[in-house]
Amino acid sequence: MTRHFLADDDLTPAEQAEVLALAAALKADPFGAKPLDGPVTVAMIFDKPTLRTQASFAAGIAELGGHPMLIDGALAGIGKRESVADVARVLGRQAGQIVWRTYGQDAIEEMAAYSGVPVVNALTDEFHPCQLLADLLTISEHKGELAGLKVVFLGDAACNMGNSWALAGASAGMHVVLSGPDGYQPSDAMVERARAIAAGTGGSVSIEGDPSAAVAGADVVITDTWVSMGKEDEAAARLAELAPYQLNAALLAGAKPDAIVMHCLPAYRGKEITAEVLDGPQSVIWDEAENRRHAQKAVLTWLHERR
Ligand code: NVA
Repeated sequence: MTRHFLADDDLTPAEQAEVLALAAALKADPFGAKPLDGPVTVAMIFDKPTLRTQASFAAGIAELGGHPMLIDGALAGIGKRESVADVARVLGRQAGQIVWRTYGQDAIEEMAAYSGVPVVNALTDEFHPCQLLADLLTISEHKGELAGLKVVFLGDAACNMGNSWALAGASAGMHVVLSGPDGYQPSDAMVERARAIAAGTGGSVSIEGDPSAAVAGADVVITDTWVSMGKEDEAAARLAELAPYQLNAALLAGAKPDAIVMHCLPAYRGKEITAEVLDGPQSVIWDEAENRRHAQKAVLTWLHERR
């Protein structure tokens, strides 16, 4: 059966470890494997803005010997001009894999149901699983391990990154603390879904409203924009409500002295994170951005081998 990567827990904990090991191997030898050397065409569709995702997928697909085919989501009018199912059937006849950044998780699930080829989530409102693989690769490079580390996600923990951290961090056996005010925390269903995974890996998932308590003793401190794509109308309220969760030097001082700081970017200095921290010695954001390519190459390779 065709495998897809639509949410972080589409990979079991063992499969996640396998993909991360493959990512590390591909990073060490970027041009050594050419699994898509057909070349396999990979359709990339973006319904939301992108920089890192488009660049890292295009470069990574080329390095794998494949061909990146960029589809303009607005021009294609997916779900408007023609149904998601019809687009899926058509693209599945042209491309060997489909990478899609869109809004609803239900839409990407529909794409996967009808495409006949692997579909990869390049960000939806609900999840950002490729980013999480890049983040886990980055943490393992800096810390040498994943299981047992305390990871804190600050701010809008109800966004795609918060959800993905709950699931992927639990899969990696980490202790994930999600810290945001009321209304900015993952749903109970999401927390339960993550805790069910953590029960099998020795990890944990908790919610902590107090950012200082959350960050205490952390190995990794992460934040994300307070205004995710599609939430622009709520910007003023979000900036006000999330202000106490800014990742600044005073807050970071409560983490372990060797804690690393991560941000999936784009970052808004002076809002969710200060310039001092984002551009400071504990920040690993450029490694994190680079690792998108290596992690995604591993996902595409892994899915291609199981198509
Ligand atoms: N939560 C952010 C992630 C950006 C990569 C958003 O959805 O805009």
